[in-house]
Amino acid sequence: MNKMWAGLTSGETNKLADDFNSSISFDCRMFEQDIKGSMVHAAMLASKGIIEQEDADKIVEGLQGILEDLKSGALAIDENAEDIHMFVEEILTERIGDAGKKLHTARSRNDQVALDLRLYLRDEITGLEDKLKQLMLTVADLAAEHKSTIMPGYTHLQRAQPITFAHQILTYAMMFSRDLSRLEDCKKRMNISPIGSCALAGTTYDTDRYFEAEKLGFDDITLNSIDGVSDRDFCVEFLACASLIMVHLSRFSEEIILWSSWEFKFIELSSDFTTGSSIMPQKKNSDMAELTRGKSGRVFGDLMALLTMLKGLPLAYNKDMQEDKEAVFDAVDTLKMCLDVFTGMVGSMTVIPENMLNAAGRGFINATDLADYLVKKGMPFRDAYKISGKIVNECMSGGYVLETFPMDKYKAHSDLFTEDVYEEINLKTCVEKRKSAGGPSVESVEKQIEYIKTIAEA
Ligand code: ARG
Repeated sequence: MNKMWAGLTSGETNKLADDFNSSISFDCRMFEQDIKGSMVHAAMLASKGIIEQEDADKIVEGLQGILEDLKSGALAIDENAEDIHMFVEEILTERIGDAGKKLHTARSRNDQVALDLRLYLRDEITGLEDKLKQLMLTVADLAAEHKSTIMPGYTHLQRAQPITFAHQILTYAMMFSRDLSRLEDCKKRMNISPIGSCALAGTTYDTDRYFEAEKLGFDDITLNSIDGVSDRDFCVEFLACASLIMVHLSRFSEEIILWSSWEFKFIELSSDFTTGSSIMPQKKNSDMAELTRGKSGRVFGDLMALLTMLKGLPLAYNKDMQEDKEAVFDAVDTLKMCLDVFTGMVGSMTVIPENMLNAAGRGFINATDLADYLVKKGMPFRDAYKISGKIVNECMSGGYVLETFPMDKYKAHSDLFTEDVYEEINLKTCVEKRKSAGGPSVESVEKQIEYIKTIAEA
């Protein structure tokens, strides 16, 4: 196959090498960004008198036609082309003749690919942010229905203290709100234009990089042309953000899997988001949550692949960098799927408050409140803690819970105990009295819901 870059070499390469070298099978998804960038480049070349306005007009018109034909399917991607940049330029020249050959003046595929990838990711991040917001709103709505649904809060997966279901799931909404702000932050450094860096050393043509940056909606230009073509930090940052989102989804998945098990039965997943077993008819499996938990590994892998690919590269562009795209694309696709499925799954699950309350009632999760009761009556916390521990022990061997432990038995441990202890250790009181900022009380949870909604609706 004869190549556009056939300069020193004949351009004839081995078929195996061609296939190995080609990136069109995956970078074709950036055709829109590539064409947009080329249109602006042609306009800049004409505005600076580097090419004739007439040629620029032909180029822009030709590119517009290619864009439309690719979108409609009238033009198919040629799998034999080396990459999307070469493909578009080849078709352009085929269609408009000599003017098409002028497009690549004062440009290189090195700055072109850096540009395309920034434009592509910038668009995708905005879409991902919308999906995150959707999920946050779904969690906030579910929380709003369960401000008084008492459940045990856990540490070490042991029942620890009383909370509400709203309080628990809002934790995930908080994680997603940080993910959102991390993506925004990552977009800031991504939104800098590398175009005009050319191969690595800029150009002798009198180009206007600011013109291109502005037309493409960038905030600024990369200040060093070598950095412009060799920087992939923005991909790494994105993959780090993506990895953390997957950590959050995976932790949430783990809880959903536990909660929907027969051992917990705190929730029931809608049959739209579960699968059955081919052999055990009683099964309703939480495959969506399990797959999300499993897919976190591939996104971490994408991050590792990119870090490893970059770490030994000399400046500036090296072909290794072509490996950036599949990792980034895979993470984008995985996140999109997981976020959509998650929103559907969380939005359609049924919460079973009785089972939560039942579990909350059997774990002595109000033992801290019992100690606090004594403290409020004047006993130092360490002594109160010891007495509560002894009472819990006695309850366990006598078949009581703190709520049913008789007053005379309480009194045997301390005369500070009076009838009001039963009110104090009632789970509802325990949750409601936890009015400290960020706690499970209705007031506090309402503030949290408000916060999440404000961010997700912005
Ligand atoms: N397909 C290449 C990539 O994705 C485009 C840049 C090629 N540049 C070069 N000098 N070979 O990285």
